Amino acid sequence: LKVPHVEINGIKYKTDPQTTNVTDSIIKLTDRSLHLKESHPVGILRDLIEKKLNSVDNTFKIFNNFKPVVTTMENFDSLGFPKDHPGRSKSDTYYINETHLLRTHTSAHELECFQKIRNDSDNIKSGFLISADVYRRDEIDKTHYPVFHQMEGATIWKRTKADVGVKEPMYIEKIREDIRQVENLLNKENVKITVDDDTIPLKENNPKQEYMSDLEVDLCSQHLKRSIELIVSEVFNKKISSMIKNKANNTPKELKVRWINAYFPWTAPSWEIEVWWQGEWLELCGCGLIRQDVLLRAGYKPSETIGWAFGLGLDRIAMLLFEIPDIRLLWSRDERFSRQFSKGLITSFKPYSKHPGSFRDVAFWLPEDKPDIHQVHENDLMEIIRNIAGDLVESVKLVDSFTHPKTGRKSMCYRINYQSMDRNLTNAEVNTLQDMVCSKLVKEYSVELR
Ligand code: PHE
Repeated sequence: LKVPHVEINGIKYKTDPQTTNVTDSIIKLTDRSLHLKESHPVGILRDLIEKKLNSVDNTFKIFNNFKPVVTTMENFDSLGFPKDHPGRSKSDTYYINETHLLRTHTSAHELECFQKIRNDSDNIKSGFLISADVYRRDEIDKTHYPVFHQMEGATIWKRTKADVGVKEPMYIEKIREDIRQVENLLNKENVKITVDDDTIPLKENNPKQEYMSDLEVDLCSQHLKRSIELIVSEVFNKKISSMIKNKANNTPKELKVRWINAYFPWTAPSWEIEVWWQGEWLELCGCGLIRQDVLLRAGYKPSETIGWAFGLGLDRIAMLLFEIPDIRLLWSRDERFSRQFSKGLITSFKPYSKHPGSFRDVAFWLPEDKPDIHQVHENDLMEIIRNIAGDLVESVKLVDSFTHPKTGRKSMCYRINYQSMDRNLTNAEVNTLQDMVCSKLVKEYSVELR
């Protein structure tokens, strides 16, 4: 008897009907590795940030070849996610089986990288950068795609033997020096970054860790924040320079960022940085001081090491820098897209054509024993549509939902916009796709079409 399985990056994994929700259309994307392509917006951006961060003092070891299948241990447990954390749910995550999944973030490799850098130097300071494709079940529109790319970064400082138990250890002076180094680079940028609120007091829900002194927390978080501001200022200053060159009339005169409190199970305290861009605050990156538990799991000795980590989404920043209007374009194999970009350069994308879209509504009654839409999670509907129409869907929106006053039955109506990046779709083609979506919905979820 053949055991049901899927093959990903050349490795076979057993599947099981209870857990498996990864689909062929997603598996096909697992060997694209856009972040490794030197002349692709995501690859260009990755390279730019790596070079900038390593221009400080070459601390970061680079790991860009991790494959997307990881264990639930790596993605969640190693980072201290509680068993009931919503991030683990099947509606948000692509599971291969009970033990394996497509990583939902590059943090899945933190433990491994902390282990890797533990013994390889006697340096007080060391660190790593990881870039990779990550996977999340999500809605469909111009800025959401089930695969995107993140860069993870971390820096740690280790006490030397002579430092253990000492009140002001040697590495304190080293961190102070490291902060000055980053600040020097920040001061060289043409448009200086202004920080809206740098001194958020640590709150009850965002506390410091016991094992760190106030001074350690203060210095470590200053270094973290200045390092991330360096990334932001590098990327956005490059953009501003090209806007000035093109005499764009919406060229910003200042670069404003703000820090806000956040929560991640493996950092404390934790923050997010937002940048003010074209009239709104854009969320760029989550970060924090690494929890000692993670370091202990990676084999470090108690109170030996302090440090920080961040995770940055690359795709949205790439879209903004290269003026790419639809996230599907990043995945296009059309030459008219790819030949527009070259290594090391930030250029504006010139749309080669805009093909008209054509929408179809699908309205249905939910089965009576499942009156709650959460039984047919919206992301399940998105997956059905993606599997049938792939990149020919531009967006899916809920346009109406109501509960029948007498019968109590619930009805939903979604609007699917079909639109290709590369060509015109015929009506007949769209109708066929829509029919397939409708029958799949009936078959899988026993809805009644209206
Ligand atoms: N992994 C987090 C995310 O995807 C970001 C993060 C990385 C936060 C490292 C803290 C430290 O949102």
